[in-house]
Amino acid sequence: MSAILEVIGLDKRFGGVHVTRNVNFVMEEGEQSAIIGPNGAGKSTFMNLLTGYHRPDAGRVVFAGKDIAGLAPHQIARLGISRAFQVSNIFSRMTVAENVRSAVHAQMGMSYNLMRRADRTGIATTDEMLARCGLDTRRDTTAGELAQGDKKRLELAIALAGKPRLLFLDEPTAGMSIDEARGTMELVNRLNRELNLTVLFTEHDMGIVFNHARKLTLLHRGEIIVQGTPAEVRANDMAQKVYLGEHQL
Ligand SMILES: Nc1ncnc2c1ncn2[C@@H]1O[C@H](COP(=O)(O)OP(=O)(O)O)[C@@H](O)[C@H]1O
Ligand SMILES: [Mg+2]
Repeated sequence: MSAILEVIGLDKRFGGVHVTRNVNFVMEEGEQSAIIGPNGAGKSTFMNLLTGYHRPDAGRVVFAGKDIAGLAPHQIARLGISRAFQVSNIFSRMTVAENVRSAVHAQMGMSYNLMRRADRTGIATTDEMLARCGLDTRRDTTAGELAQGDKKRLELAIALAGKPRLLFLDEPTAGMSIDEARGTMELVNRLNRELNLTVLFTEHDMGIVFNHARKLTLLHRGEIIVQGTPAEVRANDMAQKVYLGEHQL
């Protein structure tokens, strides 16, 4: 396996608050891992730094051999990193298929209106993403009417429209029932397996984390406390002290 992502000495302050402290982090291609840590630990900020929504103060972010630190979000997306947002980027008045198609078109660099005329590639890609995410039967549903679990499937289909190699998911199961959360994580596992998609997610439910991540990174006050397999992190005293001790496993 080879590293698809290497973060070296990443640092960020918001005013006086040091939110990312000298973070060093590596992901192998095809890996599915989680970032865990208390509220305010800096998990979302870390993802924002890697996807161009915040600019690092220092450090390098090497993706597929290229330093992407400081690039704009659309540039990073073009290079092959997608993210599903904590706050949804779904157009609620458009249908499921229209949402995915507009994301496919955006990726192809064409306007939705132009593409509407008939682009076979765009339609084929849209159909593929809908099928992969289990949305075939929902394609003509208005997105705003979807249940929470299907909304997340749509967000994933939109994120896949960019044909990413690396996918970030910030709290993908937030606000879901247990069944919806299970279905969402099964889909994420399948995408990871079938597409060899590298996946990094944050999650508060330690049951989900320990079942679905092969490696864990524990952040605390912007700093990595421990990294390792779930078993290694569980056995780590610092991890128990700053976070896991409060969470039933
Ligand atoms: N845009 C911002 N401006 C100022 N402070 C921020 C901003 N975003 C996050 N923070 C602060 O950075 C710290 C980490 O936040 P965040 O990354 O959202 O944590 P987490 O996702 O782990 O809960 C918190 O102290 C938060 O208040
Ligand atoms: Mg967060």
